[in-house]
Amino acid sequence: MTTLLGIAGSLRAGSLNRKLLQAATERTPDGVTLEIGSIAGIPLYDGDAERDEGVPAPVEALKDRIAAADGLLLVTPEYNQSIPGVFKNAIDWCSRPPKDIARVFAGKPVGVIGATPGRGGTRAAQDAWLSVFRGLSLVPFLGESLYVAGAAKVFDDDGALTDDTIARLLTEYLEAFAAFTARVGG
Ligand code: FNR
Repeated sequence: MTTLLGIAGSLRAGSLNRKLLQAATERTPDGVTLEIGSIAGIPLYDGDAERDEGVPAPVEALKDRIAAADGLLLVTPEYNQSIPGVFKNAIDWCSRPPKDIARVFAGKPVGVIGATPGRGGTRAAQDAWLSVFRGLSLVPFLGESLYVAGAAKVFDDDGALTDDTIARLLTEYLEAFAAFTARVGG
């Protein structure tokens, strides 16, 4: 059994990226579970608060869930051709204290996909994540990619994925990422 943890990098209720993550949980190959982690409740990183109060409980909880997963799947929005601050902030908190990076991140397979109503499909944000992955010693999956452009039109009113092409590409991505995770080891 392979367990993946997916995190969508948006706080808003109608997030396209959360819908994409939900769609992914319904399209995993046999023997693979995709659980959903959340960045909700994570404060802005403040080194003084860390020194005085330690790592906040929602961050410790997310760290533990990442550590327990065989692979990590980030579902990223794109802001100004890069990573949204709330998402980067959450992962930055999860890298604290640095001695925990080995337990939480190092050597873990990581994939990144994303959705935008725009035309670029979050390509720039996905590229920006690569240097973060290097900093955390994650092992990026580069075998497939999924850039969901025009994403406002691919979900129905209930948030279900209705675009057959995106559904097929998502299924193929998950199959290849799960195989990579099994090969690399979590
Ligand atoms: C955006 N958006 C956006 N989209 C894109 O494809 N490239 C970009 O550079 C940007 N830049 C950008 C900056 C800021 C500040 C905001 C608020 C938005 C649009 C963005 O893709 C859209 O709001 C998505 O719906 C955000 O993802 P969620 O919240 O739907 O998951």
